[in-house]
Amino acid sequence: MPSVPDALVDPFGRRVEDLRLSVTDRCNFRCTYCMPAEGLDWLPRSDLLTYEELARIARICVERWAFSGIRITGGEPTVRAQLPRLFEMLAPLGVDLAMTTNGVRLAKIAGDLAAAGLRRVNVSLDSLKPDVFERLTRRPELDNTLAGIDAALAAGLGPVKINCVVMRGVNDDEVVDLAAFGREIGVGVRFIEFMPLDADGGWNLDQVVPAREILERIDAVFPLDLDAREARAGEHVEPAARFSYRDGGGDVGVIASVTEPFCGNCDRVRLTAEGKFRTCLFALEEFDLRAIIRADATDDEIATMIARAVGTKWAGHRIARVDFVRPTRSMSQIGG
Ligand code: 5AD
Ligand code: SF4
Repeated sequence: MPSVPDALVDPFGRRVEDLRLSVTDRCNFRCTYCMPAEGLDWLPRSDLLTYEELARIARICVERWAFSGIRITGGEPTVRAQLPRLFEMLAPLGVDLAMTTNGVRLAKIAGDLAAAGLRRVNVSLDSLKPDVFERLTRRPELDNTLAGIDAALAAGLGPVKINCVVMRGVNDDEVVDLAAFGREIGVGVRFIEFMPLDADGGWNLDQVVPAREILERIDAVFPLDLDAREARAGEHVEPAARFSYRDGGGDVGVIASVTEPFCGNCDRVRLTAEGKFRTCLFALEEFDLRAIIRADATDDEIATMIARAVGTKWAGHRIARVDFVRPTRSMSQIGG
């Protein structure tokens, strides 16, 4: 291991320092923007990277290239058994350890996750109305999700953020209510444009509510400092453009993945639950780290494959352009 880590830089000069590890493709929800009602063909257990394998890849990224953040994703990460064990293994790396979750199991395990080393969570919440929540997630779990957000706050897993995918005609009438809810409980809400990563191929540009429109609707009720986009949230770049409320009531973010892609300062790479390394959500190429790890690759060989993959990272996705090619995986199969 080199004593001074070199930065890992892609062909467009972007430093790569955020690793997203999917720990499972399974989920206890069936969000319409992600999965079909009957679920998908789940990976067999032996196809998943073990916690030891995941921690090894994470260690290589932190030791060699000083990655600053690791985010655990799914599917729904909390459905994987003994998840605290993974955080115990990752905590010594000393990086920003975060997790994206639907929140439904947090009331039970937030304390254990925090004790194991998880620092913060993003919880998905797309509606505050029980019927709309159930139509979107296909599960009647609004109350448990809200209890999960409370549990995350109580366990100190902050700053807690709420992720909300906005779909026109489904939940876009709740944008202001969700913003108000975030202000009340002191949690930043991030509104995300619906991306073509659903499993059914039902995505349509008409269902995308542009981030600009979301901000205007919020600003009309809770005035925002729209000229002053907050520069950085934490230790590394985030795709959300964040704006502060003029009355000091915190901030709100929008992730304009479709209408104003943030690819220009993307610092992330991802690993699917079965160990395929991807340099973009929309990448068409994957690098099979599991195959080489299970064929006894050395750390150097693993690092070489990661560096080679990063050498293929493209400038940006082309959603909504004529030459856009949809990935064959849904969000739950890539890792959110
Ligand atoms: N478009 C935008 N965001 C999505 N997510 C899942 N599918 C999509 C999609 N099609 C995001 C949601 C969820 C996280 C796990 O992934 O924000 O909270
Ligand atoms: Fe599950 Fe998240 Fe996909 Fe919803 S978006 S079905 S919570 S993996």
